[in-house]
Amino acid sequence: MRRVRVRPAPGPLAGALGLPGDKSIAHRAVLLGALATGTQRIRGLPQGADVRASLAAVAALGARVEPDADWTLVHGAGRRFGAVGPEVIDCANSGTTMRLLAGMLAGGSRTVVLDGDASLRRRPMERVAAPLRALGARVETTAGRPPIRIHPGTLRGIDWTLPVASAQVKSAILLAGLGAAGETVVREPHPTRDHTERMLVAMGVPVERRDGAVAVRGGTELHAIDLTLPGDPSSAAFFAVAAAIVPGSRVVLRDVCVNPTRDGFVRILRRMGAAIEYRNARDVGGEPCADVCAAAGVLVGTSIDAAEVPAAVDELPVLAIAAACAAGETQVRGASELRVKESDRLEALAQLRVLGVDVTVVPDGLVVRGTGGGPLGSGAVSARGDHRIAMAFAVAALRAPDGIEIDDAGAVDVSFPGFFDRLSVLGAQVEVLA
Ligand code: S3P
Repeated sequence: MRRVRVRPAPGPLAGALGLPGDKSIAHRAVLLGALATGTQRIRGLPQGADVRASLAAVAALGARVEPDADWTLVHGAGRRFGAVGPEVIDCANSGTTMRLLAGMLAGGSRTVVLDGDASLRRRPMERVAAPLRALGARVETTAGRPPIRIHPGTLRGIDWTLPVASAQVKSAILLAGLGAAGETVVREPHPTRDHTERMLVAMGVPVERRDGAVAVRGGTELHAIDLTLPGDPSSAAFFAVAAAIVPGSRVVLRDVCVNPTRDGFVRILRRMGAAIEYRNARDVGGEPCADVCAAAGVLVGTSIDAAEVPAAVDELPVLAIAAACAAGETQVRGASELRVKESDRLEALAQLRVLGVDVTVVPDGLVVRGTGGGPLGSGAVSARGDHRIAMAFAVAALRAPDGIEIDDAGAVDVSFPGFFDRLSVLGAQVEVLA
């Protein structure tokens, strides 16, 4: 599937949807399972290409993976993880696979090269290489980008302050810290997703958390666990925005992870005027989870600043679509990280202009002047190889009476195979053009 045209549903969106398992937690379940002793049993592993990249990588590096309809088993390699396997590991499109693996392999006994596709090869890797070198690892990047070469090394704990809020870099340092002598501390400018910390604790590793800092001690063994994955809030966000912008809609998203380091989009959408409620709040696999009921509202623009970005970082593309439908101006600042995701998401979102939306791109964000509930224009945009851009514009199409043509729409398979089917179930008209 290369090109699709999405047109609005004939009426309001209504219904209940399940979502793929959370991608961030899934990567960690697979990667930490590979480092553990015993068998990690993971229920609800998402089928997207990113998580498959983590599965293939750990299988190549000494863990044994047994896929099953419901449960995926990862038989851990323990301390022998990375000691065997090919020299080059392909991380495909997945930054999480590459950065977390870099941390896991940093204290290893042989050279491993981490590589990826054209998009991953454009992404910054010094942010992870620099702290790993400070730990004593020998790491080379290719002019700051992949491929990354990790040579054998002996690690000593460090106290590292992240210049940029990044859960991937925080996690890489903590995972390297597990193989380092003494204590490793990571300090972050703003709190980022804490799935690594939660899972380490569940797997028997003491993690100390104090005032913006996280610390682990080297030498503790990880014990495999049984884990059910909650639904991915980053996937849920597309349907929450869809419900918010199509008048009269009400959609229930079942079993969504609502960890406060991930549900910033809900706080932002509520502030804009959408009606969003959590029902049946519970714990799933050590993570807060709820059914998210999202309904249409009269949306107004808002301001999103650097402190709010980490908890909504992957949802900002679809929040820009909500902003395009709102009354007044939405300002997004402190979000230059969006330039180094699977695409330069700030420039990719400037394609809202094709739909007649007034957008200004600034170095660290966007200013969107919304239509105030009026329809969006129609036209053709490109996903630019980026799953979240493809899905964001598909949601925009729900307010574009003549539809939107999306090129490179197959990118959705990175995190959400079946996304367009779910959108059709809600009534949207999806036509595959090529
Ligand atoms: C992720 C962290 C975020 C996010 C990415 C997944 C993770 O990236 O954008 O999609 O699983 O740790 P950064 O760590 O670069 O902020």
